[in-house]
Amino acid sequence: MFSLPIKWKLTLWYSLILALILIAFSSGVYIYFRNSLQKSIDTKIKSIADVLSTSMVETHGINVFSNFERYLENVLGKKPKGKFIQIMDSSGKIGAKMSDIEAETIPTSFSALEKALKGEVVYETIESPSKQRIRTVIVPIMEKERYKITSIVQVGTSLEDFDETLRRLLLIFLISIPTSIAITTVSGYFLARKALKPVDKIRRTAIKISSSNLDERIDVGDKRDELGRLATTFNDMIERLKESFQRINQFSIDVSHELKTPLTILKGETEVALRKDRDIEEYKKILKSNLEEIDRMTKIIDDLLLLSKAESDNIVINQEDIPIKDLLVDICMSMEVFAKQKGVELVLGNIDEANLRGDELKIRRMFSNIIENGIKYTPKGGMVEVYSSLNDGYINVYIKDNGIGIPESDIKFIFDRFYRGDKSRRRETGSGLGLSISKWITEAHKGTIEVKSVPSQGSTFIVKLPLKNE
Ligand SMILES: Nc1ncnc2c1ncn2[C@@H]1O[C@H](COP(=O)(O)OP(=O)(O)OP(=O)(O)O)[C@@H](O)[C@H]1O
Ligand SMILES: [Mg+2]
Repeated sequence: MFSLPIKWKLTLWYSLILALILIAFSSGVYIYFRNSLQKSIDTKIKSIADVLSTSMVETHGINVFSNFERYLENVLGKKPKGKFIQIMDSSGKIGAKMSDIEAETIPTSFSALEKALKGEVVYETIESPSKQRIRTVIVPIMEKERYKITSIVQVGTSLEDFDETLRRLLLIFLISIPTSIAITTVSGYFLARKALKPVDKIRRTAIKISSSNLDERIDVGDKRDELGRLATTFNDMIERLKESFQRINQFSIDVSHELKTPLTILKGETEVALRKDRDIEEYKKILKSNLEEIDRMTKIIDDLLLLSKAESDNIVINQEDIPIKDLLVDICMSMEVFAKQKGVELVLGNIDEANLRGDELKIRRMFSNIIENGIKYTPKGGMVEVYSSLNDGYINVYIKDNGIGIPESDIKFIFDRFYRGDKSRRRETGSGLGLSISKWITEAHKGTIEVKSVPSQGSTFIVKLPLKNE
């Protein structure tokens, strides 16, 4: 579906809101201006009409009609300019009139006359025969003694100036509103485009990025606004991606290497065996050695399989009762052979009698990995000790060795997948998956693993697991 670019959306909203505000504001101004102009016109004609009606009552209409203009000048002090004044009797007949405007006669509506005869003051906007708009007021003149309306005075003024002023005001609005909307639309568009330019930069960089090209970075400059921060976040993300791609790459190299070594041995031994006929004991020896290599490969592949299943949450964790002491005794017994081979003493210290809830096979695998590491990374003559303590519904199992230890800088990586310590120490076989599997198993059982280590003095792994709720 087509969707409008943000810069356009922003600009359109901006202009729309501005247009609404301007229209509302100018309509308000226009209406207020028109009303107050009209009011001032009405007041003006009404005051003339009032003066006339009072003077008519006082003079009883004597001498009014003979020289109307003179009379007006006397009463009003000067000749009224731009006005139309007429006096009518109660039947609507014009008694006297004066016109300083184009229109000679003003057609007064019957209803207005009727109202005036009832004593009302009536305002009217009338169109003269020459299409001129005229505002008039009709004021009844009441005879003092008889309380009777004898005549009516009508004062009118042309609305030409009034109409012209309003027309000009309207014109100003009609020109200035579209102009200011046009200016804001154009400048709003450029501002939005400028503000959103970094987004486009981010997009273009993102297009260039692929697993083989993770060196691309967005030039953030020294901007610390939202988009600057977005770009920084994006750069950090690429950095992390790059690191993990590198790690995966390294892992593939490691795994191929790990698998290649036993395969080469297998191939070599099999080739040698086939070169000539041998007695049955020799064949057995070769097959036994082959089996060992096959076991090594199986372990690596098993580990990898477990980790990828764990990653996709595809693993079932059994819920069994595990007597921890029996389990650790059992593991240590099976590790004994390996420890002996290495000349390392494996000591089983005090283990609490307690039950865990979980997957026995996995917990066994986790402890085996850590104890195996202890033996593996402890030189001949060293010692690995396993003991425990109980603490607030948890059991802490300590696996302590006095081996080569782990440098401070490595500690944060040892639980990472595929991570193996310093290359110089890689005389020991392994794929670097043991601890990441152990960590995953512990966490799947709501536990934690911690490690304390001093290089060339030894390491202590502490596995904390929740006890079974009794
Ligand atoms: N007890 C220990 N003493 C010294 N270094 C250790 C100890 N345990 C682990 N390490 C370091 O941590 C790294 C990662 O351990 P991990 O068990 O994950 O891999 P590995 O033992 O090398 O291979 P794997 O267990 O898969 O056969 C090891 O390569 C080693 O450098
Ligand atoms: Mg290991």
